[in-house]
Amino acid sequence: AKLLLLHGPNLNLLGTREPEVYGRTTLAAIDADLAQRAEAAGHALESLQSNAEHVLVERVQAAREDGTAFLLINPAAFTHTSVALRDALAAVAIPFIEVHLSNPHAREPFRHSSYFSDLAVGVICGFGADGYRYALEAALARLPR
Ligand code: DQA
Repeated sequence: AKLLLLHGPNLNLLGTREPEVYGRTTLAAIDADLAQRAEAAGHALESLQSNAEHVLVERVQAAREDGTAFLLINPAAFTHTSVALRDALAAVAIPFIEVHLSNPHAREPFRHSSYFSDLAVGVICGFGADGYRYALEAALARLPR
């Protein structure tokens, strides 16, 4: 099956961005690791990072046409702001897992609410880059081969 991994704003800076909060693993390393693991399980995973809300909205809309069976998404700051990205996910009705490197619940109050969690199959947060691996594993367990 086809899986899509989406990354929101500023995640292109992973590795150097507040490493005490987000770790030192780069986004390229996360993408390569997940693509390889998905392939080893007989699936295909594509990833996209954008700092622009409309790019992510349009990619989610396109996922309905391109046969994407499952989504993994770290909406980053859009977690707390984007009704548009939430609505796109609701519109395509493709199951998704929400991922965060940090544990937003242990941080500033404005990070405690998410526009995505109530629509998500599940949420994984607080495990750094490992969280993407856990999310992939959970997604693979829910996919037909
Ligand atoms: C984040 C948490 C968000 O609050 C923040 O805006 C991010 C990253 C995380 O992965 O921990 O950019 O989604």
